[in-house]
Amino acid sequence: MKAKRKKLMFAFGTRPEAIKMAPVIEEALGAKDCFETKVVLTGQHREMLDQVLLAFKIKADYDLKIMRPNQTLSGIAERCLNSIDKVLVKERPDLVLVQGDTSTAFIIALAAFYLRIPVAHVEAGLRTHNKYNPFPEEMNRRLISQVAEIHFPPTAWAFNLLAKEGITKETIFLTGNTVIDAFLEVASRKFIFEGKNKDLVPKGKKLIVVTTHRRESFGEPMQNVCKALRRVALERPHDIQIVLPVHKNPKVREVVFAELGDIRNVKLVEPMDYVPFVHLMKHAYLILTDSGGVQEEAPSLGKPVLVVRDNTERPEAVKAGTVKLVGTKEVRVFKELSLLLDDQAAYQKMSKAVNPYGDGRASKRMIAFLKYWFGFENKKPEAFISA
Ligand code: UD1
Ligand code: UDP
Repeated sequence: MKAKRKKLMFAFGTRPEAIKMAPVIEEALGAKDCFETKVVLTGQHREMLDQVLLAFKIKADYDLKIMRPNQTLSGIAERCLNSIDKVLVKERPDLVLVQGDTSTAFIIALAAFYLRIPVAHVEAGLRTHNKYNPFPEEMNRRLISQVAEIHFPPTAWAFNLLAKEGITKETIFLTGNTVIDAFLEVASRKFIFEGKNKDLVPKGKKLIVVTTHRRESFGEPMQNVCKALRRVALERPHDIQIVLPVHKNPKVREVVFAELGDIRNVKLVEPMDYVPFVHLMKHAYLILTDSGGVQEEAPSLGKPVLVVRDNTERPEAVKAGTVKLVGTKEVRVFKELSLLLDDQAAYQKMSKAVNPYGDGRASKRMIAFLKYWFGFENKKPEAFISA
């Protein structure tokens, strides 16, 4: 006899979670015979989240609207825990899916655990083994692993870390990263740079795309990175254009605008909608970032990526040679940028299109696995083969 239809609840709150959940939600909606789908937003982000919902046409069933200006970690946790409980009690889903390492993801997982509702963790197993870097994401992700029943690591490296931590292998399923599903779909859409995006892609200049937002970089480290960008931009007014969509976090905005606000060939713009941002990356000469998602997306374009962090929980592309960890010291960041701008051999060495993070089918594998897990299918699907 076929299993009874199950209720899947997708709960998330920030831009990257929405991008990485969107293809999984779409896949679940396509499996209506097996799954009823509920979407819950915590609203930890607002504008940055809403633009993703529009890009992927996601309709939410609940919006907890927890964001406050300059919010604290405890504030996010408190508002999220208080408001999700009622939704979980009312809906009683068979499985709650959370993504990644944000405070939303951890608190939703905890609230579901308190009600003995099983949790599946999308993008499980990434680690730096340094609890303060990335902060608080490293601990959020580790704590979710303790609470979750099902773990979807994106790569073999993450799979093995989970297994080494003693998590039962039958509950871990290697899928690839769903960000590649989202990215490949959006990159294949037609896009024209017009309106507010008209001048972002320069003619006859090299485009450097930059993003920065990590909590552990607030203050001096972020200032140093901006100083390096300032030096490079001022030295090469006719050769390069830097485009930096400035994250909405006030702690980011005060530093970035103060250091880079007055330079002609540095365009500081509002956080970009996902579709134009993906197409902007396609035009980049190089990318400098501290973002997790951008580190995963950019290698598939064959663009060199400089990561302004001291460590990364995504070592695969570093190993493949297309991503370089350069820290946050001004001198080093300036040197690495100059090297890629001046030395074609160094540039070509890093310009390899590799995709250790996925093949665009992670969401399909995830939903296929859940059909198997819940007894709709007898055969376990094939896992992602990761480099
Ligand atoms: C959060 C996540 C981080 C993730 C990042 C993705 C935590 C603790 N941090 O960091 O892991 O990498 O999102 O971008 O979960 N704001 C707005 N509008 C928005 C979004 C943010 O105004 O749409 C402002 C608000 O003042 C808010 C502040 O940014 O208080 C910080 O937002 P928060 O979610 O706490 O931290 P992020 O730095 O965005
Ligand atoms: N992104 C976007 N607009 C921007 C900057 C980034 O849509 O202006 C996308 C990017 O392509 C990636 C995701 O946002 O998919 C990464 O989010 P973020 O850097 O905020 O968080 P992280 O991945 O570091 O958690």
